Amino acid sequence: MPDLVVPSTRVEVRVAAPDEIGAVARIHFDSLPHDFLPSLGLDFLERVHYPAAFSSAFGANLVAVSAACPVGFVTIAHDAGRFSRDVIRRRMWDIGRYVARAAWRNPRHLRLSAEVVWSIISGRPDPVRGEIFLIAVRQPWRGKGVGQALVRASLAYLAEHQVPLCRTKTLAANTGAIAMYQRLGWSVRDRFALIGREYVTIVSPAIDPVDRN
Ligand SMILES: CC(C)(COP(=O)(O)OP(=O)(O)OC[C@H]1O[C@@H](n2cnc3c(N)ncnc32)[C@H](O)[C@@H]1OP(=O)(O)O)[C@@H](O)C(=O)NCCC(=O)NCCS
Repeated sequence: MPDLVVPSTRVEVRVAAPDEIGAVARIHFDSLPHDFLPSLGLDFLERVHYPAAFSSAFGANLVAVSAACPVGFVTIAHDAGRFSRDVIRRRMWDIGRYVARAAWRNPRHLRLSAEVVWSIISGRPDPVRGEIFLIAVRQPWRGKGVGQALVRASLAYLAEHQVPLCRTKTLAANTGAIAMYQRLGWSVRDRFALIGREYVTIVSPAIDPVDRN
């Protein structure tokens, strides 16, 4: 995949190296502290979630780097069902341990976790195979085009894998993220409720496949 450059901020987007797992986990943890996965702890993201996400053959983690330091990242899957099996379904035992720990601190966590896990297990396969699982940019770097560069790089990755569409889910209240996707031509496909909050699914415009000949 070609590297992309945001000229005004000298940020390069490339595939993340395994030794960048800690930096990626930290950006995720700091950017979305009230989301389910960060609520299991930075330790969970560093030791369970991202090692699994980095090792899956069905997705990739791309970082936006400035002066050798990751300032944002995206987790993109070209086969979201198989990726989520690698990252979530096969890690249920580890997830369960961290859920138990979080529930010890706050018993309400048990019900929230049960709802999230059930939604993953019982969810019907989505016809849109490509999925941005997570995108985040460090606070000082926001509003400079880094997020859009990461989305474009994700679509380039999907084009190479001959995947014609991409989806992502975010809180309906996350108007900044939704505006960024809409600016890139994405549109809201549906709304759904989970753990008492409203979410939207946003879908990309058609992605032209890369001609391999
Ligand atoms: C969403 C996020 C990745 C955007 O990254 P970014 O680098 O700031 O985005 P860009 O600079 O590339 O794009 C900015 C565009 O997005 C939209 N946008 C982003 N944040 C916005 C906000 N707070 N309010 C309104 N519009 C916003 C605007 O259309 C803006 O374009 P404009 O400034 O030319 O009008 C970043 O805000 C972030 O990390 N948020 C926390 C994590 C998150 O919510 N992730 C999404 C769910 S997984």
